[in-house]
Amino acid sequence: MSPRSQAPLSVAIVGTGLVGAELISQLLSLPSPSPFKLVSLSTSTKTVFAPEGLKITPQTWLSTLKSSSEQPDLLALPDKLSVLERAVFVDNTASQDVANLYPEFLKKGVHVVTPNKKAFSGSQKLYDDILKASKEGSARWLNESTVGAGLPVVQTLKDMVASGDKIKKIEGVFSGTMSYIFNEFSTANPGGPAFSSVVRIAREKGYTEPHPGDDLNGADVARKLAILARSIPSLQSALPEGYTSVSTRSLVPDALASVSSGTDFVDRLPEFDTEFEKLQRQAREEGAVLRFVGVVDVEKGVVKADLEKYPTSHPFATSLGGSDNIIMFHTERYSPRPLIIQGAGAGAAVTAMGVMSDLLKLA
Ligand SMILES: NC(=O)c1ccc[n+]([C@@H]2O[C@H](COP(=O)([O-])OP(=O)(O)OC[C@H]3O[C@@H](n4cnc5c(N)ncnc54)[C@H](OP(=O)(O)O)[C@@H]3O)[C@@H](O)[C@H]2O)c1
Ligand SMILES: *[C@@H]1O[C@H](CO)[C@@H](O)[C@H](O)[C@H]1NC(C)=O
Repeated sequence: MSPRSQAPLSVAIVGTGLVGAELISQLLSLPSPSPFKLVSLSTSTKTVFAPEGLKITPQTWLSTLKSSSEQPDLLALPDKLSVLERAVFVDNTASQDVANLYPEFLKKGVHVVTPNKKAFSGSQKLYDDILKASKEGSARWLNESTVGAGLPVVQTLKDMVASGDKIKKIEGVFSGTMSYIFNEFSTANPGGPAFSSVVRIAREKGYTEPHPGDDLNGADVARKLAILARSIPSLQSALPEGYTSVSTRSLVPDALASVSSGTDFVDRLPEFDTEFEKLQRQAREEGAVLRFVGVVDVEKGVVKADLEKYPTSHPFATSLGGSDNIIMFHTERYSPRPLIIQGAGAGAAVTAMGVMSDLLKLA
């Protein structure tokens, strides 16, 4: 590699939860000279900002942030960052309000890197605003960790498209939670646990959202599919309402749709065990297992999140463990055998690595 000629990239981080905290410690642990300079950290109540670089270490950043009396003002941040030589805004929240600000950063020449799915999977208007603002300000936005966490899914797709391969179909298990639930519930052998008890245990282990309905409704998978579809030129405008335009099967029973407490939800889920058991029995009779998958079928123009049956010899049946994700790319070049990417699709360490790999592309 040639010696560095550019100034370090100024990094402003919003969100210091599971992923944010891990990212900060990965950034602060890089060997020196680091290509990055951390200039700002914010949560919803606290902020610190130092254009010359914050004086923090992996041990001190949290107390520095906690003891700050400065009020966060995200609306002012695009201007503050735009005067720095090279700057990137990293959004580690799941907030729609923060996502709505990306065009402001991009217009002012500030790059955006994020694991937050909200901006890229929402309305066509916001997505178009992001495309336009990025052109205006010649800043880039990167979204690797929005699909498959740290797994190299978005970049792989982008490289295929850019190099002239034709995507036929992308098919995969995109939700770590759904992966765990069906890996446990739907096996080739009879006598496994009831659906409700798998969900209860998943919740106790912290694999689900506090309300498991937020996983079982399929929206997270639909959002990831919207991001993949929009990264394929012929589908860039195929989902006018973003993820809500994706045909999505919800596994939340209608009768529980308005149960707002997560605990009440898991307490009542056993009422529906016979329905799930029936689906599982049908699959077993066909020599198959159930998996909740996402499909982007480019040839047919179909984007859907659904519960499907796969033969017990299929990789979705044989090779998944824990909360793994698996993604199969069927393309003109990868045919008849697809390219397969598999591994942990959630967790702070791997998600933060996905964010870091985007930052390194900008450094
Ligand atoms: N965890 C994973 O395995 C994983 C995998 C892939 C993608 N992701 C994505 O990564 C993102 C972060 O996930 P996480 O698990 O780290 O979440 P988290 O632990 O809940 O942390 C969220 C952070 O965002 C801050 N925040 C929320 N709203 C804000 C606002 N309006 N302004 C400023 N700060 C705000 C919170 O600050 P306060 O504490 O002050 O509210 C908190 O520091 C999400 O978009 C998630 O979908 C996570
Ligand atoms: C994700 O980011 C890549 C750049 O790495 C971009 O080409 C693609 O259009 C983006 N997709 C979405 C949906 O934002």
